[in-house]
Amino acid sequence: MAENKNVSYSIYTPENHSGLEKDEVLNFLFKHLDEYGDQRADIAKCMDYALSTSEGKGGSVLVAREEGQVVGALIMNNTGMSGYIPENILVYVAVHNSQRGKGVGKKLVQLAAENSKGSIALHVEPQNPARHLYEKLGFTNKYLEYRLQR
Ligand SMILES: CC(C)(COP(=O)(O)OP(=O)(O)OC[C@H]1O[C@@H](n2cnc3c(N)ncnc32)[C@H](O)[C@@H]1OP(=O)(O)O)[C@@H](O)C(=O)NCCC(=O)NCCS
Repeated sequence: MAENKNVSYSIYTPENHSGLEKDEVLNFLFKHLDEYGDQRADIAKCMDYALSTSEGKGGSVLVAREEGQVVGALIMNNTGMSGYIPENILVYVAVHNSQRGKGVGKKLVQLAAENSKGSIALHVEPQNPARHLYEKLGFTNKYLEYRLQR
């Protein structure tokens, strides 16, 4: 796959997120997560958590831009735990539907992994083709996830 050299990547953390246009990234994720998305308010909470300096919180927000326009975004949350619970949860990743298949999603996940410590958990619907991306990057699925919805 040819890497698109015109795409630049930024990483925002609790310590340094000056220049992050939160609404721009929220709107992007809300639109481009497609059917795998959540309510805008939930994506906003996830971003606030990622950028929080409170004990046990934090994470990162990654943004891919081409000619100034957002073409991809990812949010990772720290769990504040380790060992029996993975240190990080990759909550959202999306690439603009006109820019898919060019390596942007892969680069975002790679950068998020490189810039975090410990294991990364994520969940993905069985039919979501994003599974291919995660599996190519070495993610495995040993567990089934169950939830008691309340
Ligand atoms: C999932 C998503 C982020 C992937 O982004 P992308 O930029 O298109 O992915 P990439 O081009 O970096 O692909 C990375 C690898 O995964 C593979 N892949 C990605 N999408 C694929 C698909 N639909 N079918 C098969 N393989 C796929 C690519 O072939 C590539 O493999 P390679 O490195 O061996 O060539 C993008 O499709 C998306 O935004 N989907 C909607 C939102 C979503 O489902 N998010 C994840 C759940 S939270």
